Amino acid sequence: MDKIVFATSNEGKMKEIRLILADLGVEILSMKEAGIQTDIAEDGKTFEENAIIKAKAVAAFTDAIVLADDSGLEVDYMDKQPGVYSARFMGESTPYSEKNRYIIDRLADAKDEERSARFVCVIAAVCPDGELLTTRATIEGRIAYEEEGDGGFGYDPILYLPEYGTTTAGLPIEEKNKISHRGKAFQLMKGKLKKKYEG
Ligand code: IMP
Repeated sequence: MDKIVFATSNEGKMKEIRLILADLGVEILSMKEAGIQTDIAEDGKTFEENAIIKAKAVAAFTDAIVLADDSGLEVDYMDKQPGVYSARFMGESTPYSEKNRYIIDRLADAKDEERSARFVCVIAAVCPDGELLTTRATIEGRIAYEEEGDGGFGYDPILYLPEYGTTTAGLPIEEKNKISHRGKAFQLMKGKLKKKYEG
């Protein structure tokens, strides 16, 4: 294991991932840094399918290990929507303040115990020997009655964590990374890669 390419063109995500994988002592490259440019249709029906589609598409261009992730919000009261459509929900360019307001309003009649929701993150790795590894993690909470917190992004202001008394947007970023769907899924993937390559 001497090089990992992460299938994203999002610099923010790259920064987060470099931090999480730092102790592997492996060079972590974005698609751009690896000289890979490809349009990927994320048309899977599950987080697993989308993460695998992305990782395989990029693996076609390199001999390095390729990692890709897919994530989103599942609201039980809305039959687990927006799910894999989280970014596209109500239109890609609709501000999250509107998407969040819509979800809060949809749950206007939902009691506390009916407000369960979670962020899900799946990571896929395509290894140079062709082996496919996946990990999945969630952070469980409830849809808040109002937006809260200035941190995070996207749906963070409406995922309330009863044990922290705030939403994921109300947590400092380091704290969120420790308990988040993405942070946990990356830790699990790190474990799988270490086991495979370091024994
Ligand atoms: P993707 O994994 O980059 O495709 O992101 C999917 C979408 O899920 C994001 O654009 C957000 O709408 C939502 N999402 C995923 N993770 C988070 C999070 O940690 N906080 C808030 N929204 C999230």
